[in-house]
Amino acid sequence: MNKDGILNPNSQTEGEGAKTLTTRQGHPVTDNQNVRTLGNRGPVTLENYQFLEKMSHFDRERIPERVVHARGAGAHGVFEAYGTVGDDPAGKYTRAKLFQEKGKQTPVFVRFSSVIHGGHSPETLRDPRGFAVKFYTEDGNWDLVGNNLKVFFIRDAMKFPDLVHAFKPDPVTNIQDGERIFDFISSTPEAMHMITFLFSPYGIPANYRQMQGSGVNTYKWVNQDGVGVLVKYHFEPLQGIKNLTQEQAQEIQGKNFNHATQDLFEAIEAGNYPEWEMLVQIMSDDEHPELDFDPLDDTKLWPEDQFPWLPVGKMTLNRNPLDYFAEVEQSAFGTGVLVDGLDFSDDKMLQGRTFAYSDTQRYRVGTNYLQLPINAPRTHVATNQRGGQMAYHVDLAPGVNPSVNYEPSTALGGLNEAPKAGQDHEPEYKTAKLVRRKIDRTNDYKQAGERYRLFEDWERDDLIKNLVNTLAPTNKLIQDRMVEHFTKCDPDYGRRVAEGLNALNDQNAAMQKGPIGTTGSADAVHQAEDVAKESKPF
Ligand code: HEM
Repeated sequence: MNKDGILNPNSQTEGEGAKTLTTRQGHPVTDNQNVRTLGNRGPVTLENYQFLEKMSHFDRERIPERVVHARGAGAHGVFEAYGTVGDDPAGKYTRAKLFQEKGKQTPVFVRFSSVIHGGHSPETLRDPRGFAVKFYTEDGNWDLVGNNLKVFFIRDAMKFPDLVHAFKPDPVTNIQDGERIFDFISSTPEAMHMITFLFSPYGIPANYRQMQGSGVNTYKWVNQDGVGVLVKYHFEPLQGIKNLTQEQAQEIQGKNFNHATQDLFEAIEAGNYPEWEMLVQIMSDDEHPELDFDPLDDTKLWPEDQFPWLPVGKMTLNRNPLDYFAEVEQSAFGTGVLVDGLDFSDDKMLQGRTFAYSDTQRYRVGTNYLQLPINAPRTHVATNQRGGQMAYHVDLAPGVNPSVNYEPSTALGGLNEAPKAGQDHEPEYKTAKLVRRKIDRTNDYKQAGERYRLFEDWERDDLIKNLVNTLAPTNKLIQDRMVEHFTKCDPDYGRRVAEGLNALNDQNAAMQKGPIGTTGSADAVHQAEDVAKESKPF
């Protein structure tokens, strides 16, 4: 058995027998070519157990794909702590064991993904990229479910299904449609920062190795004394950052629509292990009225000059999965999966996300998804959870009375609660009315405008072109509203998008609605028919 338990532990590992084909019942298969028939021309008989088992398992080979982030690639690796947070010992801010000692190694599994389209969609699409890390720590698992971009479209979990519906293909045509996207976005001013990144070259990372990672949401760290601080996580690729323009992406897509998966797999096979430095930004745990944004707002960056990036460790990916389905497809990450010393903040997006992940995983993978080798912690697991589909084993140590699946038990020898690892974190006591309201310091445009000005010329040109091409075929009201938003970010931003749209309208360009990135080319729809040669029916 390999060390992550992916292979069957009972299978013979050596000798000729190791290669013998069997059924799942362990019966050797002597003929895998022919079904059992009455005479060699059929008919087939129904007691054909071996055939029925083979076919019915095949019929069930797929599980539902992730509702978002369906297309992805994964790899194993290691996180090595620096033992410090910037110049301070890590323990000043968090008691999480994985960060404490210099050189301490924690195994990780990372899954990169694109968000909107299905499991085999091209890896050249304009889309945020997922960056999900599972740390198998000595205190159980910690999942950091992040993206490459450091901000997000919305700040309230209530809006997530609508956001995703707008970006997913139209339910009638099954085609992604820039008009539907901007129909939604034009009423979502908090999305301007993310849209500015997404339509720039950062919206198409060149591959997975050369992109950043970020936890996006605000979390907490808690030290031994129970003192909490707000924290944001970042991963910086030691390979550098590389992005593609729309044209470069289209060129690659015509030749290879799996280029990012292939790049990651081949780099690791060749021993060219990708590495990221992990850094954090820290803020005291309060509302920070002096800032012009809310520290819990995931549409904002924390300015680096006020909240420096402090290095905490390095992550290296050094082993490809043995089986894509068992390890990558069945992997399950969630924002609720934290270890002692790490905590949630009051960020309401984060709290909304925390419900969604394990909920979808019980449906997508199954009730006992945490017993699968890729998801199971590499540490002591003892629960009173029993049953459910595909319960693989009982989560108990041999010395514990298996009849006691409840707690507390007075005399019969069941499981006991664990001792506390440190002082409880007791955030400031607050009273508030139960409301449905957005936060006060929305400040939707300032950081988007700053980003626009910070881009290099070629990045800004690409941003304007991509926005104009996607907006040109949309309803005039949507265009006007978007120009208004961009103008509020930066007058030059709004002016350039407006000029681009006017120029296209003047040329009476043949625009066609469609997926972001490929809009603006009505010709492409008919091109295949025009250039293809005719063949005869056969
Ligand atoms: C309220 C907002 C959000 C909700 C409800 C939500 C929900 C989901 C769901 C249901 C999945 C599929 C999980 C699975 O099938 O295993 C998913 C995957 C994912 N989400 Fe979110 N999400 C939200 C926001 C975000 C944000 C802000 C980020 C980035 C920080 C993010 C990053 C990811 C990643 C990386 C994955 C793929 C994980 C993997 O590789 O398996 N999501 N999300």
